[in-house]
Amino acid sequence: MSVLATVKTVIDTEGTARHNLLPVLTSLRSKLGSLSPEILKNVSQIMDIPMAHVYGTATFYSFLETKPMGKNVIRLCRTISCDMHGKRDVLNALEDVLAVKNGETTTDGLFTLTETNCLGHCHEGPVMLVNDEVFSSLKPENIPAIIDEIRKKR
Ligand code: FES
Repeated sequence: MSVLATVKTVIDTEGTARHNLLPVLTSLRSKLGSLSPEILKNVSQIMDIPMAHVYGTATFYSFLETKPMGKNVIRLCRTISCDMHGKRDVLNALEDVLAVKNGETTTDGLFTLTETNCLGHCHEGPVMLVNDEVFSSLKPENIPAIIDEIRKKR
């Protein structure tokens, strides 16, 4: 199915009213991987919502990526509780093991490393989400084994 056909199908399902914009973008992100400028333009035209508003919504929420992402998206919580429990050391370990900086994707396309706001597991910080799987009570020394395990599984 073409990108345009997918956009039309999703909007038909969710509805064209302006308040359906977030569910539309969430669904398209899930189906197409990321929200390219072409997708956002199609959404803007079909839903008759100004492009600036569509783009603003897509870029406001950290789970609605507007650029291509790796097969596994690592979202490390950057909020205060995790930060106070060693998130920075965990981020450094992730950057070392993956050989990327925060916000980048590995050259093999397997991992994108990014930070996000609170994941709701504050009592178990530092916490990261890898796709839909939660990893809590992270320690820098455990990161290589976790990444190895993900590589083997996926
Ligand atoms: S502060 Fe990190 S999960 Fe809430």
